[in-house]
Amino acid sequence: MAEPWYITTPIYYVNDVPHVGHAYTTIAADVLARHQRRLGREVFFLTGTDEHGAKIAEAAQAHRKAPKEYCDEIVAHFKTAWRELDISYDRFIRTTDTDHEEAVQVFLSNLYQAGHIYRGRYEGRYCVGCEKFVTDEDLVDGMCILHAKAPIWYAEDNYFFRLSQFQEPLIAAITDERDPNHFVIEPESRANEVLGKLRLGLADISISRASLAWGVPIPFDPTQTTYVWVDALLNYLSGIGFQDDQARFQRFWPADLHLMAKDILWFHAVIWPAVLMAAGLRSPRRIFAHGFFTINGRKISKTLGNILHPRDLIARFGADATRYLMLSEFPFGTDGDISEAAMEERYHADLSNDLGNLLNRTVAMINRYFDSELPFPETTASLSPSDNDLRAVAEAALSRFEEALDRLTFEDALAAIWQLVSRANKYVEENAPWSLARTDRARLVIVLNHLAEALRIIAHLVWPVMPNIAQKMVEQLGVPRELERSWAEAGRWGIFPSGRSSTGASVPLFPRVGTRIEA
Ligand code: MSP
Repeated sequence: MAEPWYITTPIYYVNDVPHVGHAYTTIAADVLARHQRRLGREVFFLTGTDEHGAKIAEAAQAHRKAPKEYCDEIVAHFKTAWRELDISYDRFIRTTDTDHEEAVQVFLSNLYQAGHIYRGRYEGRYCVGCEKFVTDEDLVDGMCILHAKAPIWYAEDNYFFRLSQFQEPLIAAITDERDPNHFVIEPESRANEVLGKLRLGLADISISRASLAWGVPIPFDPTQTTYVWVDALLNYLSGIGFQDDQARFQRFWPADLHLMAKDILWFHAVIWPAVLMAAGLRSPRRIFAHGFFTINGRKISKTLGNILHPRDLIARFGADATRYLMLSEFPFGTDGDISEAAMEERYHADLSNDLGNLLNRTVAMINRYFDSELPFPETTASLSPSDNDLRAVAEAALSRFEEALDRLTFEDALAAIWQLVSRANKYVEENAPWSLARTDRARLVIVLNHLAEALRIIAHLVWPVMPNIAQKMVEQLGVPRELERSWAEAGRWGIFPSGRSSTGASVPLFPRVGTRIEA
């Protein structure tokens, strides 16, 4: 049976339509899910929306809509965006789905019965933008650092989860590989931050609201609703059948990877594993927090008016190139900047020129010199050092790519592919096939075969990132079903289908995009 692999993105708040920040995590998760699937794994890729809580209730009210009606509208935008970006999720979960709401209630009842929840009084400051209680370290001049808004004062009788009891078990789970709940937080610097804070101690947390109707009712006290973060985290269980499909649940839990940005790492690396331990469930295996990015040097903010929607990028670059450009802009684990000008430059350099032209030239030459049918060299044909070097670079690219994806260093994975693209372009210059066409037909056959083989491998490599482009590549190369091969087979050099394959028309993969003046 195929080994199961379970990956999640955060479920995004639906107070507004999706922006490129949400797309960033979702694209990254999609690339990993696609790659794992072609390794033969049985993948479950979960994404969705976080629909309860004060923030959503306020947004709905501002639009004079009932919360659920407002959520339905925004959810449609998320689904459209993910369709346009070719996100291959296995389930889109909404926290308003019945199976999820039931799962939350069952889960909380169990925790309550086991004595992990008690009633107490909460007093403190709360940021609705963050949907969390804030402390001095979250504020500057009394305002939330992230939302530039003053938190509200909050005093209520609530239910509390005994988080304080999990300090030692959490430290052990993070630091001790033999701990039955062992999990890895990455990048390492983030793990150290979490551990540092964890060692200072943990206070119990309020997990319910007395004054907010828009939430899942607390099963043992229907006058209160579940704190939106507890509700939200449980999506990772309900999304794979915690409540209604035990077989699937057993198969996929624990999650192999929770992916998110650093803003919500504490919830995932501390509160979530503690809640799971309390319920006797294993912690997720790996939690990766990538960086936060700004756009053209500025924070993504409605007030600044620089919210960039995935659609804006797709309109300019197409879905595949958008996926590529977002992941290659800056290293995945660090903070960075997304600049449309830089994206456009890279679109022309890496995509139109380096990759697009390589395919174009190769296909055009096969069409021109061999009447659209790729010829095959005699098996006894002798190879030159540049032939062997191209092959060696292709083989190195395959292993470097895989290893980089395992580490989630997308920029490295892409660099590995582009090293091969550059080597192949250099190979064209070294061998000048247009001269060989006049002087040495036997050598021309070898050269065009090597280029077709390199491009076949490049198509497999770029597929998880640019699935439609990869398909167009193999169609132009005359092997339209090539991407159905298993990954293990795909990487073998020299398997370009024998017999003659008819190449397609040489159509530019990445048409040039017009320049636009940036605000
Ligand atoms: N609803 C919670 C998550 C609950 S998960 C159980 C939430 N939602 S959110 O809509 O605010 O999304 C936060 C996530 O969006 C980040 O963790 C990250 O994945 C993504 N990003 C939002 N803005 C981003 C940037 N500017 N840069 C990088 N990622 C961004 O928090």
